[in-house]
Amino acid sequence: MPETLTITDNRTGKQYELSIQDGTIRAMDLRQIRTGPQDFGLMTYDPAYMNTANCRSAITYIDGDKGVLLYRGYPIEQLAEQSDYLETAYLILFGELPTAAQLQTWTREITLHTMLHENIKKLMEGFQYDAHPMAIFLSTVGAMSGFYPDAKQIFDKASRLRQMHRLIAKVPSIAAWAFRHSIGRPYVYPDNDLSFAGNFLNMLFKMTELKYQANPVLVRALDVLFILHADHEQNCSTSTMRNIGSSHVDPYSALAGAAAALYGPLHGGANEAVLRMLHEIGSVAKVPEFIKKVKSGEGNNRLMGFGHRVYKSYDPRAKVIKRIADLVFTVTGKNPLLEIALELERIALQDEYFIARKLYPNVDFYSGLIYQAMGFPVEMFPVLFAIPRTAGWIAQWEEMLLDPEQKIARPRQIYTGPASREYVPREKRA
Ligand code: CMC
Repeated sequence: MPETLTITDNRTGKQYELSIQDGTIRAMDLRQIRTGPQDFGLMTYDPAYMNTANCRSAITYIDGDKGVLLYRGYPIEQLAEQSDYLETAYLILFGELPTAAQLQTWTREITLHTMLHENIKKLMEGFQYDAHPMAIFLSTVGAMSGFYPDAKQIFDKASRLRQMHRLIAKVPSIAAWAFRHSIGRPYVYPDNDLSFAGNFLNMLFKMTELKYQANPVLVRALDVLFILHADHEQNCSTSTMRNIGSSHVDPYSALAGAAAALYGPLHGGANEAVLRMLHEIGSVAKVPEFIKKVKSGEGNNRLMGFGHRVYKSYDPRAKVIKRIADLVFTVTGKNPLLEIALELERIALQDEYFIARKLYPNVDFYSGLIYQAMGFPVEMFPVLFAIPRTAGWIAQWEEMLLDPEQKIARPRQIYTGPASREYVPREKRA
C-alpha cells in the first residue's frame, strides 16, 4: 500500500501526489497546488488546531478513545502508584527513569533551589491583598526573567539545566507565598528537610510551630496529584509555552505565558468552575434540573469537569483521582459537595446527550473536591495545577528548541477585511 495521497485539483484538473508519514501529510506540500503563478498556493484552515500536529514529541502519549496516558512510555496509573513527583519530573525532562544516584543528585539540586530572592518577596508584597494567587504566580514567574539573565543562554545546555532546577524548585515557593499573601499571613521559608510536597504544605500552612509536619496521607495525595498533572502533550498552555519559546525568549517569560493560558476557566480554571457549579446546584435533588439546563444550552451552561478535546472516554487521571479522593476524605472528612458530584456523574454517564458527544469526567471533575477538603481555597486550584505542569512545560520547551524542524511559530490567516482603499480625511467621514 503506497503511503501517499493523490489529490485532484478540480479547478485545474492537475493531480498531485503527497507523501503520508505518521498518518499526516505536510501542510507545506499543499503550497504547490496553485491555479496559476499569482496564486499563493493551497493552505489548510484549522481554527483551534482541531486536526493539526505542530510538532513531533517523544514526551507524552494519549490515546483519547482508549483513555490511555503515558509519560515517556510509562502508564500514568503505574507512575501514580509507584513513583513520586520529582522522579516523574525527571522522567519527563530527561526521558528515562533515574537511577538511585541520579535521583539523589536531582532531588538535592531541586532542594537547593527552593529559596526565592528577597526582592521577589518585595515584588509579591506589592500586590493588593485580594489579588488572585494565579495572577501573582504568573507575574512572579515572568519577573524571574529579570532575576536570572543567564536564562537567555537558551542554547547552552548547562544554563537550561540550571533554569530547570530553579523553576521546578521555586514554583512551589511562589505558589505558597501567593497563597499566604492572599490571606495576609507572613511568607514561610522552605524547609529543606521535607519532601517536595511536604515542604509545599509547610510553606502554605505553617503557623507558629517550630517544625511543620503535614499528614503523610495528604502529602502522598498531593504528590500523586502532581504526578497526574505533570504533562499532557499539546494542550493550550503547553502549545503557548512552545509558541512563546519559539521566539527564543528565556524560559521564565515563556512559562509566564503558559501559566496565563492555564488561568482560563476552560483549562486550569476548570476545577474552580466545577466547585462553583456544585455550589450553584446546591443539592442532589437539583441535579436533574441542572442537567436539563446544560442540555438545552440555557445560560451557556456546560457541565464543568466533563468533556475533553482528546479524551473521548473516561480520563485515566480522573480514575486515579477518584481513588485519591476516598483516601483524602478519610483524613479530612467527606466534602459535602461529593454527593452532588457523584449524582451528576451517574446521570450524565447514562444520558444520551453526553453519551453521543462522548463527554466523560476529566481530571478536573474530582480534583477540586480534594483540594477543597485539604483546605485550599478555589483560587489556588490553577496554581496547584501550574506547579507540576512546570515540568511538562520545560520539557516541551526544550524539545521544541532542539528540534531542527522548528522555527518561530507563525500561523497563516484567511483575510476577511476590506480590500485596499483610500484614506478618508476626518471631515469627510460620514
Ligand atoms: N457540557 C456540556 N456539553 C459539552 C461539554 C460540557 N462540559 N463539553 C462539550 N460539550 C458539547 C458541546 O456543546 C458540543 O455540542 P454540539 O456538538 O451539540 O455543539 C460538543 O459537546 C463538542 O464540544 P466542543 O466544545 O466542540 O469540544 P471541545 O473539544 O472544543 O471542548 C472542552 C473541550 C474541554 C473545552 C469542553 O469539553 C468543555 O468546555 N468542558 C468543560 C470545561 C472543562 O472541564 N475543562 C477542563 C478540560 S480538562 C483539563 C485540561 O486538560 O486542561
